[in-house]
Amino acid sequence: MRLVLPALILLASTLTAHAQTATLSIDASHPATPVSPTLYGIMSEEINHAWDGGLYAELVNPRTFQPPRRPGRPPNNWILVEHGASSAAIAIDPASGPSTALPASLKLDVTSADPHSTAGFFNTGYWGIAVRPSTTYRGSFYAKSDTPALGAITVRLVQNQTGAVATSTTVLALDSAWKQYTFTLKTAPALQPSANYRLEFLVAHPGSAWFTLLSLFPPTWHDQPNGFRPDLMDKLAALHPKFLRFPGGNYLEGQHLNEHFDWKQTIGPLVDRPGHQAPWMYRSTDGMGLLEMLTWCEDLHMEPLLAVFSGYALDQTHINPGKDLQPYVQDTLDEIEYVTGDTSTKWGAQRARDGHPAAFHLHYVEIGNEEYHDPSGTYDARFAQFYKAIKQDHQQLQIIATRPVASVRPDMIDDNDHEANRHFYRTATQFFHDVHRYDTYDRTGPKILVGEWATREGTPTTNLGAALGDAAWMTGLERNSDIVVMASYAPLFVNVNPFAMQWEGDLIGFDALSSYGSPSYYAQVLFSTHLGDQILASTLTAGNPRLFESVTADAKTGRLYLKLVNASSEPQPIDIKIQGATRIRPAMTITTLAGATTKDTNSITNPKHIVPVVTHATNAAPTFRHTVPKYAIQVLEIDRAP
Ligand code: AHR
Repeated sequence: MRLVLPALILLASTLTAHAQTATLSIDASHPATPVSPTLYGIMSEEINHAWDGGLYAELVNPRTFQPPRRPGRPPNNWILVEHGASSAAIAIDPASGPSTALPASLKLDVTSADPHSTAGFFNTGYWGIAVRPSTTYRGSFYAKSDTPALGAITVRLVQNQTGAVATSTTVLALDSAWKQYTFTLKTAPALQPSANYRLEFLVAHPGSAWFTLLSLFPPTWHDQPNGFRPDLMDKLAALHPKFLRFPGGNYLEGQHLNEHFDWKQTIGPLVDRPGHQAPWMYRSTDGMGLLEMLTWCEDLHMEPLLAVFSGYALDQTHINPGKDLQPYVQDTLDEIEYVTGDTSTKWGAQRARDGHPAAFHLHYVEIGNEEYHDPSGTYDARFAQFYKAIKQDHQQLQIIATRPVASVRPDMIDDNDHEANRHFYRTATQFFHDVHRYDTYDRTGPKILVGEWATREGTPTTNLGAALGDAAWMTGLERNSDIVVMASYAPLFVNVNPFAMQWEGDLIGFDALSSYGSPSYYAQVLFSTHLGDQILASTLTAGNPRLFESVTADAKTGRLYLKLVNASSEPQPIDIKIQGATRIRPAMTITTLAGATTKDTNSITNPKHIVPVVTHATNAAPTFRHTVPKYAIQVLEIDRAP
């Protein structure tokens, strides 16, 4: 994270304090309870082109051609090329493909072409194809041709406006049977980075050929095949997420029962993955399949929180508990075996064949998503059927319900805003009013997962006002993390291009070339990376009603983390009294996320307008005064001498 120093703003706001002085009393002599080690995680699903056209680094869109929405006609992003005097046509052939999963292809019929008048097609990517200097792109496609004289295929990256060719290569003549062809494209050092490129496939002779699974990957995070965008992975790594809740969300459920996330269709070679219609308006390639999600967890040291299909879809249809549901319960047992089984098991062996012999760690399984929308009243029985089947062989797994159930006791509940009957998608003001929600929660009941939450102010990504709402809410989560053991903001990603977004108010924005974190993102970074392992009892009196706090301590180092949120328009002086802490060092580090107005934000063109600023002070003491600037989230790190 690059830290900029608007120290003058901070100084000016500290000098013009008007609000009544607040008192923050901290009891450092009795650490109240341990902080949940899994408190801050992330939630992700296929929405806003989070994965296809986002984290999943594939550049070609779409790379396959089924099912044909408009029989015969190619998808919008595939465009015919007829250079010079050439003549050609492209169309979907629904009956020819390289596998059962991919039964359709793009057929190219060239009636006239020569080396000076080539013909073919190009793909426009996900709102452009990003091309960078000195970069190697790895491509592949499946193809066949019935015309031996068709000759080699030229593949090239072409600038949309100028027609300049950034890089080009050839693939030898095609076979008459379906085969996979690979190629690499390398760019020169002098190239300007730009997302304004297309990927062209050209031939120089008449004839016919069929193509599908046309793919191009830039360098991925840690150079993993079928991997992830490095800039987005780096942003996630900076969050230090303790868990990943996946694959949904509504994406898990599907609009209709037959469109749920069917994990068995998402594993193995890409040529065997059909993809599926996802609920957020577009088709998923399922290149981001179960194994990719698990390796994502492994890469970022996140616990997988595996959500499994419960037999309920968004159109409010359901599968009856009992024998009808049993195949879905079995799918979940198989899925757990795929994740955790050793290679002597059927599905553990499949995972090994898919390239990952080592079993993954799994401790959390959530049954369904937002089941309070199901009018049938069958969740209780469906949950119990899953719960009993899973616990029979996997007692160690924590089973999470998406609403309270009576027939068995879930280990955890994915809590929701009971009044709104949804996950916690709120305004900042609503969060300010509910900061004490968990202070009085029943400590004898199941633990709490806050599986989706966000202050939805600002678009496409949220603004500083939202970050203040988020931070206020997180002080409440932190102070109660004996019961709130996991929390994940959502949605995580948005592709900011026109028509790419289905959900306004997201954490991280990106286009084909670059990405940025919203103020809410930086609030998450601040909270998750400045967290002790003990909650200290603290009370706040007086001050403005938009002042919030939480205090944690690191048992090993003795460091105190004071989180202060001032969501008001005035600087807020606070008398801080730390009882029971001896040998407090005067030097403290202060990290501030602040701005002039709640509408201040970051964007793809101004990505670092609101970022954390680190300053230092030397007035920490058992009792000292500190002023929090207006519209500010601050963390004070206070050390104690051993
Ligand atoms: O996060 C967006 C959607 O909000 C999720 O898919 C769903 O669970 C919730 O309603």
